[in-house]
Amino acid sequence: MHSFKELTIEFSRRFNTPHFPKYPESLYAANDYFLGLGGKRIRPVMCLMGNELFNDIHEDAWQVATAIELFHNFTLIHDDIMDAAPRRRGFETVHQKYGASTALLAGDVMLVVAYEYLNKISSSHLKPIINLFSKTAREVCEGQQLDMDFEKLSTVSPGEYLKMIELKTSVLLAASLKMGAIIGGAGDGNSDHLYEFGKNLGIAFQIQDDYLDAFGDPEKFGKTAGGDIRQNKKTFLLIHALRTATGSQQQELHALLNSDSNDKVERVLKIFRDCNVDEWARQLKQQYFDKALFHIEEIAVLSSRKKPLLEIAEFLIQRDY
Ligand code: IPE
Ligand code: IPE
Ligand code: MG
Ligand code: MG
Ligand code: MG
Repeated sequence: MHSFKELTIEFSRRFNTPHFPKYPESLYAANDYFLGLGGKRIRPVMCLMGNELFNDIHEDAWQVATAIELFHNFTLIHDDIMDAAPRRRGFETVHQKYGASTALLAGDVMLVVAYEYLNKISSSHLKPIINLFSKTAREVCEGQQLDMDFEKLSTVSPGEYLKMIELKTSVLLAASLKMGAIIGGAGDGNSDHLYEFGKNLGIAFQIQDDYLDAFGDPEKFGKTAGGDIRQNKKTFLLIHALRTATGSQQQELHALLNSDSNDKVERVLKIFRDCNVDEWARQLKQQYFDKALFHIEEIAVLSSRKKPLLEIAEFLIQRDY
């Protein structure tokens, strides 16, 4: 058994090797640049943990973990175009540095290379893994479209928000665990509970991401503060504020949603604070964390084997980057 930290170190060591050819440099330099910026590498580590919950880590799990991390990086490159984000992981985003067209292609080719890694796994695992990977990729696209559609609406319901973050974020965490479980030879009952653990944890993770976008330290978080506010994202912070603020603050929020003024972020943050979003964030995260824990308890393996999963779960909802 390996700890969260050990798996992260070992995955990063293996992953930090070239994944792209040199020519044309104008394309692949963008890919190398972005992968060189690092990241927490949590999804591949979850795949390895999913495997190790049931069995020794199989060679295929390293390939699938690599494919997952490449897929995730592809989604980030494209996401930053969609969100007009200038910074990520403490540096310029790919489209900011290389232009939107190259960023699109860098993302596209990264997705293709992800599938090339999947294609290396043994035939007994190939079909279930490709099926789950593709289903998940499709769902991420659906979630990303909803996220953008919501920018144009004056408000969305908590249920609509949850569905959107489940699709754009949670399913990839859930599928990463489940792909590992498939490779580890888990039965359907166990792997379904692991998937549900990942889905609920993923919701708590995105809640924390939305919280940090508004209140995180940009130096640590690595993204421009208030990006979601500027883009009129319908995060749980805004939904909560639109429901609990005083009448005049609600009016102000609606007016701010239609404006581009320089003090927009600052004024929205003030209303968020007045609505006690801190406490609301804590409660929401706890609610989904508890649901996640219920599912992990249902998995029929020795509880000592679940320790790394509990470690990563704690980290994901408390993180500040
Ligand atoms: C960012 O994911 C995208 C979200 C789903 C919130 P991470 O926070 O895992 O990004 P990196 O890979 O560590 O930079
Ligand atoms: C990202 O959601 C989800 C995907 C990349 C699929 P966000 O847009 O909130 O992620 P960040 O905050 O830019 O990392
Ligand atoms: Mg974004
Ligand atoms: Mg986005
Ligand atoms: Mg975000």
